Amino acid sequence: MSETGKPISRIDGRMKVTGKATYAAEFNQPGMAYAFPVRSTIAKGSVTGIDDAVVKKEPGVLAVISYKNALKLKPLDMAAQMKAGAAFLGENLVPLQDNKIRYTGQFIAVVVAESYEQARAAAYKLKISYAIEKAATDLKTELPKSTKPKVFMGEEAQLNTGRTAAPLAASPHRISHTYSTPVENHHPMEPHATVAVWEGADKLTLYDSTQGVQLTSNIAAYFLGLKPENVRVVAPFVGGGFGSKGLWLHTLLVAMAAKATNRPVKLALTRQMMQTNVGHRAATIQEVAMGTDETGKLTAIRHHTSSYNNLTQFFEPSGKQTKVLYEAPLREITYNVAALNRGTPTFMRAPGEAPGTFALESAIDEMAYELKIDPVEFRVMNHAAKEPITGHEYSSINLVDCYRIGAERFGWSSRKMEPRQTSKGRYLVGHGMATATYPGGRSAASVNVQINDKGEVTVLTASIDIGTGTYTVLAQTASDALGVPVEQIQVKIGDSALPPSPLAGGSQTTASIHPAAMEACKLLRKDLARLAVADPASALNGRNPDELGFADGKLFITGNEKQSDTYIDILKRARKTMMEACATTLPVSGAGLTVPGALCTPANIPAEQNSDIKQYAFHSFGAQFAEVWVDQDLGTIRVKRFTSVQDVGLIMNEKTARSQVIGGVIFGIGAALMEATEYDKRWGNPVVRTLADYHVPVNLDVPAIDVHFIGKPDPHISPIGARGIGEIGITGVSAAIANAVFNATGKRLRDLPLTPDKLV
Ligand code: MOS
Repeated sequence: MSETGKPISRIDGRMKVTGKATYAAEFNQPGMAYAFPVRSTIAKGSVTGIDDAVVKKEPGVLAVISYKNALKLKPLDMAAQMKAGAAFLGENLVPLQDNKIRYTGQFIAVVVAESYEQARAAAYKLKISYAIEKAATDLKTELPKSTKPKVFMGEEAQLNTGRTAAPLAASPHRISHTYSTPVENHHPMEPHATVAVWEGADKLTLYDSTQGVQLTSNIAAYFLGLKPENVRVVAPFVGGGFGSKGLWLHTLLVAMAAKATNRPVKLALTRQMMQTNVGHRAATIQEVAMGTDETGKLTAIRHHTSSYNNLTQFFEPSGKQTKVLYEAPLREITYNVAALNRGTPTFMRAPGEAPGTFALESAIDEMAYELKIDPVEFRVMNHAAKEPITGHEYSSINLVDCYRIGAERFGWSSRKMEPRQTSKGRYLVGHGMATATYPGGRSAASVNVQINDKGEVTVLTASIDIGTGTYTVLAQTASDALGVPVEQIQVKIGDSALPPSPLAGGSQTTASIHPAAMEACKLLRKDLARLAVADPASALNGRNPDELGFADGKLFITGNEKQSDTYIDILKRARKTMMEACATTLPVSGAGLTVPGALCTPANIPAEQNSDIKQYAFHSFGAQFAEVWVDQDLGTIRVKRFTSVQDVGLIMNEKTARSQVIGGVIFGIGAALMEATEYDKRWGNPVVRTLADYHVPVNLDVPAIDVHFIGKPDPHISPIGARGIGEIGITGVSAAIANAVFNATGKRLRDLPLTPDKLV
């Protein structure tokens, strides 16, 4: 492998910075109209009247659509949706089918007009009357009525309930604390937007900002009653998703609006709508207790999370990392979940682990301090070499190396165990660290590879580049697998008509699509070789096709590179303008990898689990180290240095991988110090409404971030050995920062974000 791993710059970078990369809202159509949604101002109840008389007379207005006149869509039916690959609607609500209100901000009507400004101005004039019911708007108020769900996404949600009480009580050293995390919003740079174009009565094209074109196609097709192959979803560029870009209701609304007006229609969400209508990370209250024996070996860990849901079964699974980290004879991981009338919680970068590592890794630091054991040493002492619950071997684990290398790079040995030992002027300086972890997922995927008679290669798959580097890394894989320079490789992704790929979520894209890309290149190379050896005009005539080498756009006799035949010549002599090969790979590491007869049509491949999961546990690991400076007068916290060491398998591109981790760490700094969405209890609406009050880190909040990769290939995730890297970077960051704040100040802050009011 010569290109794989290299820190090459994004092949789509120039298009992005010059504005040539086209995002969903930029797919303007001739005759296009604009939709603007009207949203509920009450949290629960029903709409009793919609007076559109004034609005209909507003300039440019084409339609006012509400439950009274909306297109009838298929109702919710989980079994049927599962069968159709349409289960993951962001919230289980079919828009504009009835007058019921489930949360403030719910779409209750949509105004379509000739221009965006006309639609927006008119939408604000729509008169709605409501029957108001008492809403559940506050987590703490609703917790007494909460339930204990049995399952979370197919897994047991209540583990060893009540069983840690006795061993904890008997432990000579123990701690028990409550940590809390606020609502967070994803806020990708590119707001959600969709352009809907009906190409006839039963055929639809959606230009949509989505993490999964085929997911969106399946869901839209299901509810609109169309064939999935008749709903083409196009998303060549997506400006971030972080879990918020599955299918949310605006995509169905705009399809309905386009049908009603018989025009192409664009709908772009405002930042305010993104606070509510595309999911959020729910707030959590987490109780963590643990005990150790006299030597500091853990005896039991208990992690209980209280959170909420609305309109789906999803709740924030903050106990996930507590299943994976640390050796302990017993662990209890439980949840209770309230129901709130609030926009629906969903997946957000490292769902579960992001807030969960704040609690667990703060508690581990508290336990280590109680024992007067260095927190790195405490973690090493209690390291779990096998997955604790299943007893499975990890497919690959180098976590102790992450701790050791991180400590070395960060200069951990000069840290003082006792707080308030180091200051610089009026700043107290502190050092803290935490463990990072996220599962290593992989799904089935298909990739088609084409080569033309100019030697140009095109790699095609429905995958999405949400800013992660998918374009670039696919070109690198194809370059190595075909022996063609990266500059001659084009990547076409982000179109549901292309060969099936999983959605760009769950940190699974790299592990899923690259084995298929490599396999497709291999098949194509074999076809080229077979043509060459059978051709008397080829220098390779009569040779064994399996014994040929390949590089620089040609096949050659191994050991005698001069005796060769170029791909271009092979195609030309065979009078072919193009050859192609497609491969579908299933998530297994060994034999039986490729599905014969390549399913390279946009069929719905079930997201089969890695068949090796019965034998191995697939997880990534890391160690996060932070230095903070705390202003003693103002209570402001600055992260001054950060080191992140990651064990994520083979690195496909040192530059894009590093950027992923940097992005994750910055996201973690935001969660630690500033991000929080507050709600008004009276009406259930977010009072934090824009990026002016939903604070995210800016350049001055972000120090130099030192990223190091272990880089050892995972021998079981795939023949390539790379695990996903999109989510692990955020995990452990807020705990490392909170632990550093304790080391600086002696104050233990257990409620995120760590704003100055909590310190002074
Ligand atoms: Mo991620 S939260 O699986 O997009």
